Amino acid sequence: MKDRIDKFFSEIESIEIKSKEHLEEFRLKWLSKKGIVTALFDEFKILANEERKEVGRHLNDLKNKAQEKFNHLKEEFEGGEEIPASDIDLTKPAEPIAFGSRHPISIVRNQIVEIFSRIGFTIKEDREIEDDWHNFSALNLPEDHPARDMQDTFFIKGQREQSEFVLRTHTSSVQIRMMENSKPPIRCIFPGRVYRKENISARAHCFFHQVEGLYVDENVSFADLKQTLLFFAQEMFGEETKIRLRPSYFPFTEPSAEVDVTCFICASKGCAVCKHSGWVEILGCGMVHPKVLENCKIDSKKYTGFAFGMGIERIAMLKYQINDIRLFYENDIRFLSQFKRA
Ligand code: PHE
Repeated sequence: MKDRIDKFFSEIESIEIKSKEHLEEFRLKWLSKKGIVTALFDEFKILANEERKEVGRHLNDLKNKAQEKFNHLKEEFEGGEEIPASDIDLTKPAEPIAFGSRHPISIVRNQIVEIFSRIGFTIKEDREIEDDWHNFSALNLPEDHPARDMQDTFFIKGQREQSEFVLRTHTSSVQIRMMENSKPPIRCIFPGRVYRKENISARAHCFFHQVEGLYVDENVSFADLKQTLLFFAQEMFGEETKIRLRPSYFPFTEPSAEVDVTCFICASKGCAVCKHSGWVEILGCGMVHPKVLENCKIDSKKYTGFAFGMGIERIAMLKYQINDIRLFYENDIRFLSQFKRA
């Protein structure tokens, strides 16, 4: 029996297997229940004790040899089809890498920042959780002032009964921090996220983004404000753009105004975006209230200043004609990928 096993051993060694089908034939012949190895084990069981030890060793070697050969070839055949070198076309273009695109809010924010930086405005960002002083009181909005209702506020529960902290309702809070911490001349813009307790709809959200601006120096006039905003509007919406200021009210500016630009979509001929008026509102502004300067220890007899503030979403919605603010926050890739990298 030992000799037979040795012969089988060399036979297994010399078998050449070239395909999966061959390998299956090999398995059936040697390793299946009806295969040669099983039959040999059956024979082995009835051997006399003296023979068993040596034959057993050879038989195990044979079994391992067959199994190893099978495992090795199985792996080789299943490890993917090898492509012959001659079939590989190295001149073919590679699969394109998918680039992300910037969020439209970031694109417009960067554009606004860039325009103002060209005329000497620096940039300052600060906290979104603010104390009452910086968000309201310092801005000439003392407690119980009815204008606090202009912006519905999220309060943060403090340790004491009455909350001292709010989610900032505008980035005017950063203007206060800037004026408290530096001396005029100050020429700075303040981009950031703000929060208001609004019902979410196509036109309003409980958070959005602003860029506010501030210029404080000796002899800063309303004419400077107008000229700065005209420059911004023409850079943002095109050379032909005109601006119009309508009197308005903000507690922290006096006088105050709202600014419209000529409709850049229909060239003021009248369309759905400008509601056939030829004008679209883009921001609020005014001369910094002397009380606000004094609150920040800036001499209001020596210095004057202007301030303005705009919603980035609003500008982006006008620019890209987006009719639902919620699209900005849904992260739908089909929406976001429409905005090319900028
Ligand atoms: N803080 C105002 C707002 O959030 C905008 C504004 C800023 C108006 C500066 C006038 C001057 O609506």
